[in-house]
Parts: sequence; C-alpha cells; structure tokens
Amino acid sequence: MQLYYATHDGQARRIAERIAGRLAERGIPASPQDLAAKLPAAEKLAAARLVTIVSAVRYGRHLPAGRQFLSIYQTLRAPPPLVLLSVCLAARKPGRDTAADNPYLRKAIARHRLAPALALAVAGRLDYPRYSWLDRQMIRFIMMLTRGPTDPRTSIEYTAWNVVDDVALRIAELLERSEPLRS
Ligand SMILES: Cc1cc2nc3c(=O)[nH]c(=O)nc-3n(C[C@H](O)[C@H](O)[C@H](O)COP(=O)(O)O)c2cc1C
Repeated sequence: MQLYYATHDGQARRIAERIAGRLAERGIPASPQDLAAKLPAAEKLAAARLVTIVSAVRYGRHLPAGRQFLSIYQTLRAPPPLVLLSVCLAARKPGRDTAADNPYLRKAIARHRLAPALALAVAGRLDYPRYSWLDRQMIRFIMMLTRGPTDPRTSIEYTAWNVVDDVALRIAELLERSEPLRS
C-alpha cells in the first residue's frame, strides 16, 4: 500500500501517520510519503496494490503537491484503486464530507477524471496563532461567514480520529479485495 500526503501546517501528515499506525496494527506496512519532498514516478504508482493520498486544502484547492500527484495518477492506464482524503475546515460541519457535498473533492474528481474507491473529506485544524497576518484575516473572514470561531487566539483540532480510524479499516478491506501481485 502506498500512502502519500500533502501538508502545509502538519494536519494532513498527522492523519496519514494515524492511518499508517492503524494499518501497522493489522500487519499492513505503509510509511507516509511527503509529496512536497518527492513526487512518485508513474511506474511506481502503477505497481501499487492501492494508493492513498491525504491532501490539505488551502484557498479552495488541494495543495499543489496533491494536485501534481493526482495529475500523475491520472496518466495511468490501469490505475490501482485510489483512496482520496481531503483535509479541510469545511468538513467540520456535518454533511460536508462526501464527493456529493464537498466542493474540493467534487472538483478534484472531475478535474482529474478519478473514480476513487473511497473519497472523503476530513476536518482539519484551525490554528490562528500559526498563520501569517493575511492568512489569519482571510480565515477569520471565512469563519465569520460560516459561523465558526473568529477569536485570533483560537487553536482547535476538528479532526474526528474515529473517522480516520474507520478509513484505515476501509483501506484494509479494500486491500483484501485487491490484486495480490501488486505491491
Ligand atoms: C491560508 C489557509 C487557507 C485555507 N483554505 C481553506 C479552504 O479554502 N477551505 C477549507 O475548508 N479549509 C481551508 N483551510 C483550512 C485547512 O484546510 C486546515 O487548516 C487543514 O487542517 C490544513 O491542513 P495542513 O495542516 O495539513 O496544512 C485553510 C487554511 C489556511 C491556513
């Protein structure tokens, strides 16, 4: 199983690490790879039994490394099953976590013509003190519009770790059904 992440502030990495930890408990090795450090070659992806990407969203889009990854995946003639996880704040609200109701997932799937085995948006972290002044003001404005916290001292982790654990379980189930000859 190949497991990749694209992060800016670390939450997508923590989510990928949690998935790796849960899979390890089931005897499934998967070390999270940072897409900003290295993008995988198409041949490597093609040989995977299953590919998981955890990508953070910023300003309405997945991070560039996440989008580049999906562009590579898109070129594969016989792509392995894909698990696509978007990390964003929109998903902190109920009914905003599937491809049907999450705009970032929907756009990524349409743009890269994906047919993911599993696509889910996971709530990330709001951490005003960490952001630059401009980013902080922008996010506060968005939070004001979406009735979220606007106090610039706020630091909240919205990630539902039980949902992340369920994703790991689904990955393990998908792997059981996948072609055994792939890596
Ligand atoms: C500058 C900035 C822009 C963001 N834009 C969005 C956005 O458009 N939609 C959204 O739902 N969340 C947005 N977020 C929230 C992030 O997706 C969330 O903080 C996530 O946990 C970031 O993941 P990371 O820590 O892996 O970078 C934004 C956060 C920042 C700091």
